[in-house]
Amino acid sequence: MELTLTTGRELPPPDAAEDGVWLQCIDCDETYAPFDEIRYTCDCGSLLEVRYDDLPDWDDFEGRGVWRYSAALPFDEGVSLPEGDTPLHRVPRLESAVGVESLRVKHEGMNPTGSFKDRGMTVGVRVAGELGVDRLACASTGNTSAALAAYGARAGVETLVLLPAGKVAAGKVAQASLHGARILEVDGNFDTCLDIVQDLADRGEAYLLNSLNPFRLEGQKTIGLEILEAHREDYGEYPDRIVLPVGNAGNTAALYKCFRELVAAGALDVDDVPKLTGVQAEGAAPMVEAIEEGNDETRRWDHVETIATAIRIGNPVNAPKALPGIRETGGTAVAVSDEEITDAQRALAGEGVGVEPASAASVAGLRKLRERGDVAADERVVCLTTGHLLKDPDAAAAAGAKPQPVPGDTDGVLAHLQD
Ligand code: F0G
Repeated sequence: MELTLTTGRELPPPDAAEDGVWLQCIDCDETYAPFDEIRYTCDCGSLLEVRYDDLPDWDDFEGRGVWRYSAALPFDEGVSLPEGDTPLHRVPRLESAVGVESLRVKHEGMNPTGSFKDRGMTVGVRVAGELGVDRLACASTGNTSAALAAYGARAGVETLVLLPAGKVAAGKVAQASLHGARILEVDGNFDTCLDIVQDLADRGEAYLLNSLNPFRLEGQKTIGLEILEAHREDYGEYPDRIVLPVGNAGNTAALYKCFRELVAAGALDVDDVPKLTGVQAEGAAPMVEAIEEGNDETRRWDHVETIATAIRIGNPVNAPKALPGIRETGGTAVAVSDEEITDAQRALAGEGVGVEPASAASVAGLRKLRERGDVAADERVVCLTTGHLLKDPDAAAAAGAKPQPVPGDTDGVLAHLQD
């Protein structure tokens, strides 16, 4: 395996570095001071990533949660609720049904606002404080808005969220609302919302905290660090594969960056890097299309639809970072139907793990790849479940058992149970 995109030590820190941290373009290598000005992308238009002149080894991590990994982050602490330190569930029935050596489920729904977005926000909102901005904004399929609203509230900064009207699960809107975000319901899909919020950010109206913001992905790297540490502790080895749902492809990019930094630091052998395996819904699968067709870019899907509204995205902005991650780690991408997603959601719930539909896509994708023979029986696999069941109570109720009306006395209840 060869990881051609490099990061960190092999380059001398540029003049732009502040405390050993800088922003670097993934295409033209241009560098920028990280906190001098507000900047999301390179002047050439490409994505930026955060670089460090010193990369940590495993011994450098202490404490719990996201900030355990501060040696791999731009700051020692952030605006914290706190986040991270999520369980790596055993799912023995699912493991044998899928037919792999081991299957663990990293349940990111156990973060404070119920999704992995909290990991990115604890860092992103800290950076916003450094830059001294007074309004935070994001476009969202729901979870990012819930996390931004909560972390913005914690930091005491105004928040603005743009949501695709009618396409965001009830729990997420409720969170954004109660945490005090100003919620704009846009007549358009997520990609339209992101176009608008990028324009607003470019005009200086708000600080953008979508995953286009490279600092968000720094926090999300810690999912990979937690998985590797916990898996090594339980099995004495790293997982062969990590399967995750893909929307804007930020998480895929973040995990890939995590692995590259560990390899560059000498903390992870390149042959031990898990295969990044992305799953999308059939009705919103531009990343799967790009992987299958061997393209370096994704085609924008104008019409997207899926029960997994969190990943109802047609123009994944992090594709230039994520596609090489899938390819260079030897992974793949697969699309699953809404029915397969719901089946996987029920199977996870049957093991006590309650997730929202987008999260179940990871397990649905693994099942499909195993059936196809693209995943081998001797693999140790970790599926990422990104959001909690209660995020989308309507989908959960529709997938689950119906409540049964009974009379208000014990005999009536017993009679009903005997039917
Ligand atoms: N799973 C859930 C539950 C999500 O909310 C998202 C993204 C993803 C997976 C995909 O992650 O974008 O890093 O590939 N939700 C964003 C939002 C878009 O607005 O909450 P990704």
